[in-house]
Amino acid sequence: MTTSPLPDSQHQIRTIHLTVNGKNFPLEVGMAPHQIQPCHTLLQTIRETLGFTGTKEGCDEGACGACTVIMDGEPILSCMMLTIECDGKSITTIEGLQNPETGHLDPLQQSFIDHGAFQCGFCTPGIIMASKVLIDKKSNLETNDVKEALSGHYCRCITHYQVVDAVVDVTKKVMRVSDDK
Ligand code: FES
Ligand code: FES
Repeated sequence: MTTSPLPDSQHQIRTIHLTVNGKNFPLEVGMAPHQIQPCHTLLQTIRETLGFTGTKEGCDEGACGACTVIMDGEPILSCMMLTIECDGKSITTIEGLQNPETGHLDPLQQSFIDHGAFQCGFCTPGIIMASKVLIDKKSNLETNDVKEALSGHYCRCITHYQVVDAVVDVTKKVMRVSDDK
């Protein structure tokens, strides 16, 4: 039998659990100000409740890609997901990419810097999270693979060409490192 994450008729408090960037967050569901309301999107919860403001809110209707995070290994639009649907899920935001021990940026983030693949940077966290899944799944990327994977991401600063170069280049570097071993 499946259980609803909503409070039951006895007004018991229900708690859902999200793992965000490796840390477990128990979240009460309800209508009080400190609780997660059934209508709250994952984007709202990530930014406003948990404070991971690296994830951006653009259109809030699934059209721009700015809110993309990784959930259980797949890129998802956090504005299109209710938080209560994410009970037990593991989520990575842009804050979770840097090495927790050294504090170094992920090579993909560094490649964006090296290629000047952003201007205002508003779209960048979403693009990086979608790209991260792409390079984790496929090592020998072609330009068209990147264009297709990022086709749902809108950048008003028109950095698309540099973004494609940054993603393709980082996969080549990863391959060179593994070839040298
Ligand atoms: Fe989610 Fe635009 S804010 S797709
Ligand atoms: Fe400004 Fe993409 S860098 S929206």
